[in-house]
Amino acid sequence: MNELDTLFQNNEQWANAIKAEDPAFFEKLAKQQNPEYLWIGCADSRVPANEIVGLLPGELFVHRNIANCVVHTDLNCLSVIYYAVQVLKIKHIIVCGHYGCGGVNAALNNFQLGLADHWIRNIRDVYYTNRTEVDGVLDSKAKVDLLCELNVKQQVSNVCHIPVVQNAWAAGQPLAVHGWIYGIGDGRLKSIVDSIDSLDQIPEQYRVAGL
Ligand code: CO
Repeated sequence: MNELDTLFQNNEQWANAIKAEDPAFFEKLAKQQNPEYLWIGCADSRVPANEIVGLLPGELFVHRNIANCVVHTDLNCLSVIYYAVQVLKIKHIIVCGHYGCGGVNAALNNFQLGLADHWIRNIRDVYYTNRTEVDGVLDSKAKVDLLCELNVKQQVSNVCHIPVVQNAWAAGQPLAVHGWIYGIGDGRLKSIVDSIDSLDQIPEQYRVAGL
């Protein structure tokens, strides 16, 4: 037996269970997707986006990377956001971090991860900007968790500085950006940033030209 056979068996059971509930489910989905939410989360296997918020296929557009970063030169993430906002007209962008994030821990404790160091560098910048607050926390676990929260806040700002997001607001398209954090130890989500849904909440220095 192939060691991956279990996954195919699981898939068959999963598809059958959904079909039993709604016989036309996959047929309808194959025609189009119409999600209202874009989820930007960590690649960590313990933070499965759809399961956490109880949404079915078709309801959540998802982008995941190490430590849920939104980097203004990352064509991958920028393309996802562009498509979500411009084409799918999603109404909510959720940046969701999690406590105990390995990427955040590596940035804080100076671990070398090879190629991933370049990516983690984005979180080092968040640490450096907030070093007084972070270094004021003595407990090592609490320190990582604080930087996890500060990272979410920074990535929410980064989303709001992207032209397609600001252009949507200028055009009157309903769009809100949210910052959440997930507790791997208790399965609970928490909002840690006031939602941003208009241009006047964006500092002038980050406004897109002409807006
Ligand atoms: Co993580």
